[in-house]
Amino acid sequence: MVNRFGYFDDVQREYVVTRPDTPLPWLNYLGQDDLFGLCTNTAGGYTFWRDAKLRRLTRYRYNNVPLDTGGRYLYVHDAGSVWNPGWKPVKARLDHYECRVGLGYTRITGAKDGLEVEQLMFIPPNEDVELWKVTVRNTSGERKQPRLYSFVEFAFYDALNDMTNYQRTYSIGEVVVEGSAIHHVTEFRERRDHSTMFACTAPVSGFDTSRDAFVGVHEGLHEARVPFAGGATGSIAHGWNPIGAHEVTLDLAPAERCELAFVLAFVQHGAAKFTATGSFDTSQGRAILERWSAPGVVDTAFAALASSWDRLLGGVQVTCPDEHLGRMVNTWNQYQCMATFNLSRSASMFETGIGRGMGFRDSNQDLLGFVHMVPSRARRRLLDLAATQLSDGTCFHQYQPLTKQGNADVGGDFYDDHLWLVLATCAYVKETADLGVLDAPCGYADRTYTDDGERESLLHHLETSLAYTMANRGPHGLPLIGHADWNDCLNLNCFSTEPNESFQTAGDVVGSQAESVMIGGLFLAAANEMGALYDHLERPDDAARIRRWRAEILAAVETHGWDGEWWLRAYDAESRPVGSSRNEEGQIFVESQAWCALGGAGTDGRARQALDAVEAQLTTPNGIVLQQPAYTRYHLELGEITSYPPGVKENAGIFCHSNTWIHLAWCRAGDGDRALAGYLSICPSAKQDQIETYRCEPYVYAQAIAGPDSPTSGEAKNSWLTGTAAWTFVVATQGILGVQPDHAGLRIDPCIPPSWPGFTIHRRFRGVDYEIEVRNPDGVAHGIRSLTVDGSRIDGNLVAAPPNSTHVRVEAVLGR
Ligand code: BGC
Ligand code: NOJ
Repeated sequence: MVNRFGYFDDVQREYVVTRPDTPLPWLNYLGQDDLFGLCTNTAGGYTFWRDAKLRRLTRYRYNNVPLDTGGRYLYVHDAGSVWNPGWKPVKARLDHYECRVGLGYTRITGAKDGLEVEQLMFIPPNEDVELWKVTVRNTSGERKQPRLYSFVEFAFYDALNDMTNYQRTYSIGEVVVEGSAIHHVTEFRERRDHSTMFACTAPVSGFDTSRDAFVGVHEGLHEARVPFAGGATGSIAHGWNPIGAHEVTLDLAPAERCELAFVLAFVQHGAAKFTATGSFDTSQGRAILERWSAPGVVDTAFAALASSWDRLLGGVQVTCPDEHLGRMVNTWNQYQCMATFNLSRSASMFETGIGRGMGFRDSNQDLLGFVHMVPSRARRRLLDLAATQLSDGTCFHQYQPLTKQGNADVGGDFYDDHLWLVLATCAYVKETADLGVLDAPCGYADRTYTDDGERESLLHHLETSLAYTMANRGPHGLPLIGHADWNDCLNLNCFSTEPNESFQTAGDVVGSQAESVMIGGLFLAAANEMGALYDHLERPDDAARIRRWRAEILAAVETHGWDGEWWLRAYDAESRPVGSSRNEEGQIFVESQAWCALGGAGTDGRARQALDAVEAQLTTPNGIVLQQPAYTRYHLELGEITSYPPGVKENAGIFCHSNTWIHLAWCRAGDGDRALAGYLSICPSAKQDQIETYRCEPYVYAQAIAGPDSPTSGEAKNSWLTGTAAWTFVVATQGILGVQPDHAGLRIDPCIPPSWPGFTIHRRFRGVDYEIEVRNPDGVAHGIRSLTVDGSRIDGNLVAAPPNSTHVRVEAVLGR
């Protein structure tokens, strides 16, 4: 389907934006290893290395006017007119504009007056360079001599300092220019062993490095002096704001085209950063530029990017009757899972790259949608996360990706955090069968070790985590909530009357009584996973011990967590129920309905009753709202949740992440119609016909969609970095399509709409390619009637690859 702004090109695996003035800037990410770029459909954005806070290479001003100003700009000066292929910043009327949002690249093409300029931006796999391949075509009948100006603004690496500390930063800027290579060397003489180079593979006719010279002091980027004047000034920045700008003068006969590339490199010098005479050593940069100037290398690197995505996505590919589910699973959902795994909640159009690094609960959940793609990276992440846990079980809520140190400002005491580590580790082990990870040394953040051998293992952390919940329970025997559980805004110990403090860290949790039914359900799910892991490890005593713990929490949940028609959400600091029909506002919450079901509470019918209550009271065509009725006033005893306007974010917004758990619960309940309807209700690809209301990118999930209580109902916010990505992938692949990694093999247990005749799915699992065909002759939602593996009938629904096979054919027939 085509909307006013673009369409999916499923064959190319691209979203094609057909006009630049999208309802919001639509973002893509470049890079998937160490170097990352944010790139919008008008070439806005910035580049950083590993850590958007501490290694910001180019500058971006969030909350700017207009929105999304600053980026990877090319200015074209042609016969007196000045324009950008990506429309911004000049916003000259283009004869043609197209932005192809691809996997790890963005290709923008703009044309005006018989000249077409294509700018393909990407970061090749495992390289610290960002490349812009530029192709200029003269489509007129005349000879043309356009001038092209490149432009990036350098950042002083520490993004917060860069944006706040001008008394220093305006005095320290330094560059070194050698040929087309502009080296940003600020702070190089002191403690940095890295620099940034912006260079061009073609001969340049000029350059600028001072923003004052190139743009002007009083001018904006849309009226930058040099491109309009048509002559670079050769400026060298001394302090103020260093930039990189090249001037390339072209001479094109009719129908002639030329290609060149710009190279933005993060250069790591190590100890050898000075020449013999003590000046900045340009040799590393020179070698990088030479390498990328050789004929064909840029194209080869682009081909390597494409094949890396073929490999990454190739692990799961489905053919099914639903266009949106197929498209999202095969391409965009997996793609988003890579971004959330890499960046957690750090850098997007809504996260400035400064506030949060890697979130503990976020990264553990992100792993669920990523582990099948690159298990070795998931393994590394688990160990990094575990190492930010303290020996009593508390987890640093966030850590900085560059240093891997927990963020002391936010601290810990979110009493769900540690449980996600259990889910993530078990998912990793089920995917890989790598039991060795359980013995891998991690250690605790509050202990010192002299060698790795002293560090406690990952399994030790999992035990610590479960024990932590057992030890931190309230008057009803339910888990304490601490500052908050998954719902960061349900702050039952905060009591904040002070606008200058964070809801998340205010309030004393020591000695607190507030309890969370959701954590109760989450614990049940985590204990199920641990029990199964110990069964697999053939440690029956440990399995039995975990099941005893589980039984204790289950009893508390079932006895004190039930309101009558649904699960309570919590007990507040005074032990009053939250999420109860006895409350005036906030009577029913989604999270506890979901987690009690997923944890296996209420098998006497209450789990199902609670799901029906979600359907009746919280479900809208745009998804499930977080609670009802929305809070209309600030409740001191509930915290931030009541600070948002009704219908927004945690206050009765459609918080997409929490929707996915209900979808999974519907799958477990065997209702394929409800599962798919829920899945589609928040699916961005299915929002094409309401894109002007929805506003965010149609190719990735957003964190939240405004609920019916809001005047902006249907409007999405906080796209890209959301736990929705991973969980909805779990829903689609493990829930609906029902291909579930398990310790002993791949379990096949689909839950589809009865109207589906079937589907096929390719799944790479532990190095073996499974071709799975599911047929549904009886029109059921759920239940395997027969299963054959390489032609032989098997009992049950667990498929283990025959020894030494690399390809396995599975045929499943659903039915009664
Ligand atoms: C947001 C939450 C977020 C929290 C942590 C709150 O303001 O609404 O979604 O998790 O901040 O930064
Ligand atoms: C976004 C946060 O990143 C996540 O940790 C939290 O669970 C949700 N908001 C819900 O509050």
